[in-house]
Amino acid sequence: MTSVVVVGSINLDVVTVCDRFPQPGETITGVSVSFGQGGKGANQARSAARAGARTVFVGAVGDDDAAETVLGSLTAAGVDVSPVRRVPGSTGFANVTVDGTGENHIIVVPAANAEVELDDAARAAITAADVLLLQLEIPLPVVTEAARTARASGTTVLLNPSPVQPIPDELVELLDAVIVNRDEAAALAEAIATVPQVITTLGGAGARATSPEGTVESPGFEVRVVDTTGAGDAFAGALAANWNRPPAERILRANAAGALTATAPGAAAAPSGADVDAFLAEQGLAR
Ligand code: RIB
Repeated sequence: MTSVVVVGSINLDVVTVCDRFPQPGETITGVSVSFGQGGKGANQARSAARAGARTVFVGAVGDDDAAETVLGSLTAAGVDVSPVRRVPGSTGFANVTVDGTGENHIIVVPAANAEVELDDAARAAITAADVLLLQLEIPLPVVTEAARTARASGTTVLLNPSPVQPIPDELVELLDAVIVNRDEAAALAEAIATVPQVITTLGGAGARATSPEGTVESPGFEVRVVDTTGAGDAFAGALAANWNRPPAERILRANAAGALTATAPGAAAAPSGADVDAFLAEQGLAR
């Protein structure tokens, strides 16, 4: 079993579903509202655990009721949250609006996520893991420190540079692979040119992994899209969990996990490894 550590954000997502997004200054009537665990880091940790990896999450929550809600949800998914810091104040929060096509708009308030730090327990977890999975919703110096700790112990370092922002050279040099969507790939083309492996998600058109050994691709899947929130996170988490498989297989499984996540509401809809097996069998792509 692959062991994965995710160092990243955890949020309470408030998800409002509406037929269409409002224009600036416009008030519209929504269809529904719900609360759920979110945050790119926590979503990716959930996906890795659901995909079958032994998974540890390192992050920070506040001292409010939301902290118990989001940590309880992640624990129930099989993620070890013991290294999570508890700080005075609010847990991270995201206002997610989803329209009738499944597209979203997201506003994140970092709150406790701005106070993630690595203590001895976090460093030990990174050192012991096969794979470290990072995003950019926590302070960059902590992301870089986690990557440096991983590199020193031979742990594979994967970065999903989302939300997209400039990446310092020091961090780029520590990466084994980046996981980007088309917009991130375009925005960071120059910055990530030296990263050994680039995995690009192509929305409905599938995914591609490029490395010095060549390019492997996964086909797009036709699914009924309900909510794309967290689909990219599910892809990244499943990819990390399947990192010990051959490249074509791990991309295929990650792509299936992302597609299945988009068929259900909320960011915390990552499928299990068995769900992915069944889906791939239906598609005639069982491995
Ligand atoms: O990637 C989706 C996530 O982005 C949401 O869960 C939200 O919390 C934001 O972090």
